[in-house]
Amino acid sequence: MAKYNIALLPGDGIGKDVMDAAQIVMDKLALDAEYFPGDIGWEFWCREGDPLPQRTIDLLKRTDCCLFGAITSKPKEEAEDELIPELKGKGLIYSSPIVRLRQEFNLRTNLRPCKAYKGNPLNYRDDIDLVVFRENTECLYVGIEFHPLPAELMQTLQNLHPKMKRFGQVDLEDIAVSLRIITRQACQNIIRDAFEYAVKYGYKTVTVVEKPNVIRETSGLMVREARKIAKEYPTIQLWEANIDAMCMWLVKNPQDYGVLVTSNMFGDIISDLCAQLVGGLGFSSSGNIGDHYAVFEPTHGSAPKYAGQYKVNPTAMLLTVKLMLDWLGETDSAHRLEKAVSEVIAEDRVKTYDMGGRNSSLEVAQAVAARL
Ligand code: NAI
Ligand code: MG
Repeated sequence: MAKYNIALLPGDGIGKDVMDAAQIVMDKLALDAEYFPGDIGWEFWCREGDPLPQRTIDLLKRTDCCLFGAITSKPKEEAEDELIPELKGKGLIYSSPIVRLRQEFNLRTNLRPCKAYKGNPLNYRDDIDLVVFRENTECLYVGIEFHPLPAELMQTLQNLHPKMKRFGQVDLEDIAVSLRIITRQACQNIIRDAFEYAVKYGYKTVTVVEKPNVIRETSGLMVREARKIAKEYPTIQLWEANIDAMCMWLVKNPQDYGVLVTSNMFGDIISDLCAQLVGGLGFSSSGNIGDHYAVFEPTHGSAPKYAGQYKVNPTAMLLTVKLMLDWLGETDSAHRLEKAVSEVIAEDRVKTYDMGGRNSSLEVAQAVAARL
């Protein structure tokens, strides 16, 4: 029996291209693992009415972790249109399989390293080494929203909060409310994950990025918990920054920061900003990590216009494999893989179109494999 069972979900579009690239490198690493391909994505929505069939969830439950490519998603009406005739008009509603995976396996931590590898022409600067910890399950993304606002809720809010009075005359049709919910437990989990990571990988600072001066309760809770937990990590400095100012600092002095920790929506925004500082979607890896399971995926989507052409940069996916190896505890393989990726970038010979090259995704993967 292999040491690890790993589910492989290529998904749609270039998800398949980069998964093939990942396989070249994983084969070369000769990890003691068995790989189990699974179904996810648009094809399964159209044919079965479910982009994340139950058999895939069952498969994931039998494995240690999952490597995922990318999926295509489309707005509600278009999704309905593309169902096979037998499934049309049955009230099926498309919902994002990634969001469902995060909920099903409680993948509460989103980890996004953004490191500048020397020689990457797309780097903003060469000395950036940021890691974003984004809370993955709460905040404005809990999906608890009201429009029109139920009269009962309007009444309750007016009873409970004086600041709600100013909306008292607004027609219920003309007001929308989205709830930002943050629990103490989620704050503690994400902050602790950030500090543990800083210790393990030698970062000197953890910056909590929120807006507690304005959003006093939810952002306030994050910052207050960060201050408490920071006391347990005397070797790491806690810095505090407001999300708006942080966007500015990241453009001005990104090299000054190490680990960043934040709630779901701010994390979504800031991780895209950080990714672009080090070359963008072709370089951006991520992990969705829970207590017992993790799903690793490049940040990019399915880029339909490049599907099946093996044109896109597989580096994001190869760095995603590296994250997975780290999580599995295969530290030596993870380190070797990262070194090989960085050498291929530095050598500046085998590269995809986004870096000004003409090589295929598979050629880049082969160049990395050759260095292993
Ligand atoms: P996208 O990330 O698929 O592509 C945007 C553009 O970025 C591409 O056209 C390409 O020019 C560039 N790009 C992306 N990955 C690259 C790579 N590895 N190397 C070089 N260049 C790369 O985002 P888009 O076009 O907004 O969405 C396409 C589909 O993907 C949509 O259906 C969307 O819903 C889905 N999507 C899925 C995600 C996921 O699976 N986690 C995340 C983002 C979008
Ligand atoms: Mg995003």
